Amino acid sequence: MAGPGLGGHSAAERLLLLLLLPLAQAEGPLMFVAVVFRHGDRAPLASYPTDPHKEAVSDLWPRGLGQLTGEGVRQQLELGRFLRSRYEHFLSPEFRREEVYVRSTDFDRTLESAQANLAGLFPESAPGRPEAAWRPIPVHTVPVAEDKLLRFPTRSCPRYRELLREATEATEYQTALEGWTDFLIRLENFTGLSLVGEPLRKAWKVLDTLICQEAHGLPRPAWASPDVLRTLAQISALDIGAHVGPPHAAEKAQLSGGILLDAILTNFSRVQRLGLPLKMVMYSAHDSTLLALQGALGLYDSHMPPYAACLGFEFRRRQGDLGDRGGNVSVSLFYRNDSAGRPLPLSLPGCPSPCPLGRFHQLTAPARPPEHGIPCHSLREPARHAAAAVPLLAGTVAVLAALSLGLGVLAWRPGCLRAWGGPV
Ligand SMILES: *[C@@H]1O[C@H](CO)[C@@H](O)[C@H](O)[C@H]1NC(C)=O
Ligand SMILES: *[C@@H]1O[C@H](CO)[C@@H](O)[C@H](O)[C@H]1NC(C)=O
Ligand SMILES: *[C@@H]1O[C@H](CO)[C@@H](O)[C@H](O)[C@H]1NC(C)=O
Ligand SMILES: *[C@@H]1O[C@H](CO)[C@@H](O)[C@H](O)[C@H]1NC(C)=O
Repeated sequence: MAGPGLGGHSAAERLLLLLLLPLAQAEGPLMFVAVVFRHGDRAPLASYPTDPHKEAVSDLWPRGLGQLTGEGVRQQLELGRFLRSRYEHFLSPEFRREEVYVRSTDFDRTLESAQANLAGLFPESAPGRPEAAWRPIPVHTVPVAEDKLLRFPTRSCPRYRELLREATEATEYQTALEGWTDFLIRLENFTGLSLVGEPLRKAWKVLDTLICQEAHGLPRPAWASPDVLRTLAQISALDIGAHVGPPHAAEKAQLSGGILLDAILTNFSRVQRLGLPLKMVMYSAHDSTLLALQGALGLYDSHMPPYAACLGFEFRRRQGDLGDRGGNVSVSLFYRNDSAGRPLPLSLPGCPSPCPLGRFHQLTAPARPPEHGIPCHSLREPARHAAAAVPLLAGTVAVLAALSLGLGVLAWRPGCLRAWGGPV
């Protein structure tokens, strides 16, 4: 992942590089970077009643459920080293507070991830540094309840809930859910969980537990066949799609990922306008943060961001062509979801990369919150009896009865994606 030096390349590669270099230069020098990444590998968030490994939780995950693992620390170190090689000539060799700002959600795993990442990015905080030369790097956060940037208050936002309800009442969603009725009944039996209320969210939690255990070499229970895992992943994708996709994807984004997108663009404009020395902002967050951001960019494609996945925004000065509005700056996006390969270049739908900043602003405007604030109120009358319209069934028996009448899907409220109620 080293920078594109010419050394160590074959003659043919060198020729290719020489041909490509002018292109790279036409893109112009880097001005500002924002990266948003998911924390590293963590312990599962929960267990379930029939979990064969549940007695061993404290041995398997000595730091506790939901905490970053040693593997997670390593993944973030690696991501930090990648960022160092990518921005070797852009950032100062050592941390400067006016140049780099790091913000994390207020969770142990994201705070630790940010620190591990910085240990890869800045030599003075690297592991193994002689004590006299060692310096930690500051990471900023705000209390979870006040975090409007990286964790979205969608659960307490009536308008978002309304939009979500519309998605989950749509025929396509209901048809898919009906198709999984038998599967979900079997899942209740396999796991001993009651899926009443939030079947999709709970199904996702089971999947998460299975994936975490498998990643750490624990055998899967016999019922958890590849087919079952595949179905769980499809269920999870349906749930996420309802949160960040159509209908009204842009309006949902205004209440979630568009807030962060807007903060990044505003950040860049302020830096330019005020001539600030800020070069990079780093956000340490959750899969839900990345998913919401992908939703706001129109780039959600039903893939789950793996641990330490990183979405980057690079603002460059454009050379030549100052014609269109938004002028002389371009934005390009990259997504690094696999440490073994190069990051994937992404382009905003409707604007091949590098996208002129003006066009980028224009295209993302519908997904960003309006200037006067976030329209979180409900369009309907504030109905005090709203709960009655969504009957909450008391137990499995009731759900099974309802299911056999074909009414189950009505009783099942839309699952809230984990981070929209508890980030992952
Ligand atoms: C699943 O069903 C079997 C057979 O009907 C039953 O014996 C078992 O107790 C059930 N398991 C759970 C966790 O409900
Ligand atoms: C950039 O963003 C960070 C975090 O979102 C914020 O704290 C900081 O004040 C912003 N800086 C500027 C210059 O807008
Ligand atoms: C873009 O062009 C304007 C007008 O020529 C200039 O004032 C501004 O500094 C330029 N911005 C950048 C980032 O080059
Ligand atoms: C990375 O993301 C791309 C685009 O969403 C996807 O096609 C690919 O399968 C992902 N790879 C991994 C390892 O997650």
